[in-house]
Amino acid sequence: MPVALTNSTARSAATRAVVAEAARRRTFAIISHPDAGKTTLTEKLLLYGGAIAEAGAVRARRSGRAAVSDWMEMERERGISISSTVLRFEVGDTVFNLLDTPGHRDFSEDTLRVLAAADAAVMLLDAAKGIEEQTLKLFQVAHERRVPLLTFVNKFDRPALEPLELLDEIERELGLRAAPVTWPVGMGTDFEGVVDRRHGVFHRYSRTPGGASEAPEERIALEDAAVQGDGSWAACREELALLDEVDAQLDPDAFLRGEATPVFFGSALSNFGVRLILDALVELAPGPSAWRGADGGERPLDSPFSALVFKLQANVDPRHRDRLSFLRVCSGRFDRGMRVVNARTGRPLALNYAHHVFGQERRTLDVAYPGDVVGLTGLGDLRIGDTLYCDSSVRYPPIPVLAPEHFVRARNRGAARYKQFRRGLAQLDEEGVVQVLRDPQLGDQGPILAGAGPMQFEVAKHRLASEFGAEVSLEEAPYRVARRIRDTDADAVTRSPHADLLLRADGTNVAAFSSDFRLRRFSEEQPDVRLDRFLVR
Ligand code: G4P
Repeated sequence: MPVALTNSTARSAATRAVVAEAARRRTFAIISHPDAGKTTLTEKLLLYGGAIAEAGAVRARRSGRAAVSDWMEMERERGISISSTVLRFEVGDTVFNLLDTPGHRDFSEDTLRVLAAADAAVMLLDAAKGIEEQTLKLFQVAHERRVPLLTFVNKFDRPALEPLELLDEIERELGLRAAPVTWPVGMGTDFEGVVDRRHGVFHRYSRTPGGASEAPEERIALEDAAVQGDGSWAACREELALLDEVDAQLDPDAFLRGEATPVFFGSALSNFGVRLILDALVELAPGPSAWRGADGGERPLDSPFSALVFKLQANVDPRHRDRLSFLRVCSGRFDRGMRVVNARTGRPLALNYAHHVFGQERRTLDVAYPGDVVGLTGLGDLRIGDTLYCDSSVRYPPIPVLAPEHFVRARNRGAARYKQFRRGLAQLDEEGVVQVLRDPQLGDQGPILAGAGPMQFEVAKHRLASEFGAEVSLEEAPYRVARRIRDTDADAVTRSPHADLLLRADGTNVAAFSSDFRLRRFSEEQPDVRLDRFLVR
């Protein structure tokens, strides 16, 4: 056979393999208000996904024992999750990449970056509370990126809001069309299970001690279950009839556009409805598809390798102090040791040290496909938002950063450690731990640390001291709100009595205001100045 023909046959087999591998991946995140049950649901997905034998391992961190996603000292001390990790598991033919997001609201910037790498997300609600403040904030972030959202209404084993009321709240507060795929039968101690509306099947569950193992499950045709059923069924029958009447069906295209959400009911603690949400991630959630470059052109999955750096994570292992860069593979096949180009710098680099990262565990990773996340070490000059590619060039759009809502001024306490202070700040800014803003007049004398919540500053202070030996004090800064502005509007901000001009290290101009009132006054006086809620890195 001619050599050329052999090569092209091999190439087409390789590209077919990339498309087939991508199709069996589901890369998703979970977003929720703290305490809605994200840790519990994550763990139960791992249980049903066969990645852990018994529930309890992840949640052990609350009691101070070692846990899957315990990385930083501060996390252990406070029992919160600051850094997120990637949880990979396989069910049947599907490879799930669950991109864990931090549990605490102060770290929602991290969630934004994780959502940039996800193809879908599960929005988790507490059935007694509905849409809470942090749900709304994270929803806005997901919606901005048009991430398809599946909704899981959790804790139906406790007194809950009426399911119809919950649907109404989703529609009213989020502007999403809510399409119930399952429907609860009973609630609280009477919660028996859920009806799968698409297949007309009632899933009746039994509780297991502590929900440590899968809940035994009986599947009954809806007609038979409804005839047998008692009190809870009367309400359920009526509600199901009403849903049919108003034609509350899922429009898959609207879901993929981020305009509708399939809704599932259950209890993560008792394992009710967990398998159904896992099945829905396979059936309904999109797999990886072609990504759009900053120039608007699409890069098909079977193009040469390309990937987006969406997260930098230092200090994973305090003994090594190395930095992990997380890549989301967007097209082509990743092979460990491959040489790629960084689109930002134009420089070539070799991807030799590649890992699967699962909590604290790392394993060498040799091959990855679109949708997979690769943890790389030994590459100090990568930045969040960098595109890496092989052969034909591409650059993906930058990952936006939330306009900060909290501000402090950092003072270096030891003059002799000034260099370390500067280096530390630069690194924390690059990693997205905090945003560092400077007054153009003052430069590094008292830079402003800005972010989504004060806990970010504590992490920054802790890391400046422990990793860079720079002790800092944090003082109140006179700002409450900030917006990104165009370079051409910098003068208007400097002249205004209502705003201060601050600069990010990447040159982004930021207008900072001491109150919402000042922000409003500024907008009234300067209607032509565009004020952006998202800063783009
Ligand atoms: P988070 O990560 O979103 O912050 O929530 P997490 O899973 O830690 O759950 C918060 C609390 O809600 C925990 O109780 C957890 O047991 C409980 N929970 C989660 N899912 C369910 C559910 O489906 N039903 C019920 N009834 N409770 C649920 P805790 O008392 O704070 O902790 P623990 O003492 O149980 O560890």
